[in-house]
Amino acid sequence: DRRLKIAPSILSADFANFGAEIRAIEAEGADWVHVDVMDGHFVPNLTFGPPAVKAFRPHVTTFMDVHLMIAPVDAYVDAYAEAGADMITAHVEAGPHPHRTLQAIRATGKKAGIALNPGTPVEAVGYLLDLCDMVLVMTVNPGFGGQKFIHGQLEKIARLREMIGDRPIHIQVDGGVDPTTAPLVVQAGADVLVAGSAVFKGGSVDAPQVYGANMRAI
Ligand code: DX5
Ligand code: ZN
Repeated sequence: DRRLKIAPSILSADFANFGAEIRAIEAEGADWVHVDVMDGHFVPNLTFGPPAVKAFRPHVTTFMDVHLMIAPVDAYVDAYAEAGADMITAHVEAGPHPHRTLQAIRATGKKAGIALNPGTPVEAVGYLLDLCDMVLVMTVNPGFGGQKFIHGQLEKIARLREMIGDRPIHIQVDGGVDPTTAPLVVQAGADVLVAGSAVFKGGSVDAPQVYGANMRAI
């Protein structure tokens, strides 16, 4: 289903209140919950291990989209599946065998995504598309929320939309998505928009209406 989906990234949520933050964004209309997993190696930041993701799970009633920015990744696929991810996305740059990684994700019964860093050509996923439910185009260098959108990636999204054709594969965009850049990525062909700082900015679990207004502005 190609209807536009908003997937707030809880990387920008209050780290002492994840359960309440997840409930607040879902109550305000979030379609998916995006979880950014970082290993301090593939990207220069550290976030959530499988036990943390497992703790988020009972609070998510929509769809838990887990973005693995870790390398090597294969050894952790089962652990994140067991922690309750609905979709597991790995980076095509995470190792020499992204095809094997996608097979491993598919073997868990979860949806499978492949992510592209800004410097990686879209052709890198050409032979992987038949193993994917989603391709994630990074529009910042992964590692941190609140960075500036890289406009040169729009062409990549459009090219990917052509490559996908009528296959049921989502195009997700992650990084610097806000009310100004969202129309551009949708125009280029994206259908799942991750947004961290643009959703959580100015809101709180005590005043979740701000999250709703931020999401509607996107
Ligand atoms: C970046 C993460 C993103 C990040 C997006 O490494 O993958 O999901 O949280 O944050 P914003 O929307 O603030 O750019
Ligand atoms: Zn992400």
